[in-house]
Amino acid sequence: MDAKEIADQITALKKKKNAIIMAHYYVADEIQDIADFVGDSFFLAKKATETDADIIVLCGVRFMGESAKVLNPDKKVLIPEMAADCPMAHMATTDGIDEMRSRYDDLAVVCYVNSTADLKAASDVCVTSANALKIVSRLPQKNIYFIPDQNLAHYIADQLPDKNFIFNDGFCHVHNSIRLDVLKKTKAMKPDAPVLVHPECRPEVVAEADYVGSTSGIIKYASESDAKEFIVATELGVMHELQKRNPDKKFYPAGPMQICPNMKKLTMEKLLHVLQFEDSEITLPDDLMRDAKAPMEEMLRLAQ
Ligand code: 13P
Ligand code: SF4
Repeated sequence: MDAKEIADQITALKKKKNAIIMAHYYVADEIQDIADFVGDSFFLAKKATETDADIIVLCGVRFMGESAKVLNPDKKVLIPEMAADCPMAHMATTDGIDEMRSRYDDLAVVCYVNSTADLKAASDVCVTSANALKIVSRLPQKNIYFIPDQNLAHYIADQLPDKNFIFNDGFCHVHNSIRLDVLKKTKAMKPDAPVLVHPECRPEVVAEADYVGSTSGIIKYASESDAKEFIVATELGVMHELQKRNPDKKFYPAGPMQICPNMKKLTMEKLLHVLQFEDSEITLPDDLMRDAKAPMEEMLRLAQ
């Protein structure tokens, strides 16, 4: 089957089964093009609560499918590749959370959505990179145990000096691989280009940014800016939407290795397969879904 036949079959099956395709900006260009909605993690979680489709096909890594399922327990949630898992989602433990709860009375456990359903279920509130600052600033607790991403935690902590942050040592290997020395070399070659940085990057890289934000935030900033070229410090899947919205602007990667191998496990063939056979379904125990739903809903409430 050629690419057009695959795309046509996906579109036909989607209609027939009343399915909706949602994609993150880091998946392959052709998947972004065929999706009904493309967005950052917050947008995808929110959109999942607004659809009346019978099936949600979440084109992203597993935690994104789990988030959609937790928010929509009665819907069928499929992901094209079950093995597309984010390593950072596992970089904290429920034992670690219990330990912090025993140490601090006045504690909020804040869980980045890039985490397993188990971790979400043990937390007080979830956040994404698009809403973490707003949500943590609205929490009454002084002590904040922020899991799993230490870089996002430091970015938020620096802006909220009245909070006492307890850091966890998780990180995204893709964003963490963007090194300051390499970024400085890129900057030296493109001195007029604003630097757009995702907060999963290291603090010293964030410190060089003209703009820090989620994937959607980066795309919006670049699209509204008068600048003609930009240095981009996030996964390179965003280049597709950046270029689509801004055909006259130029975008340069900050470093050489900004590819998420898990996001890139998704293909059009796998998307077609999962729509045909519905065999890669996210299922979670009922009690886990119930416990993970509360902090996800708290995020949606506090983000308003
Ligand atoms: P956002 O789209 O929320 O910025 O997420 C970045 C990310 O790493 C998702 O895996
Ligand atoms: Fe996980 Fe990083 Fe890949 Fe996002 S880019 S899915 S945080 S490894």
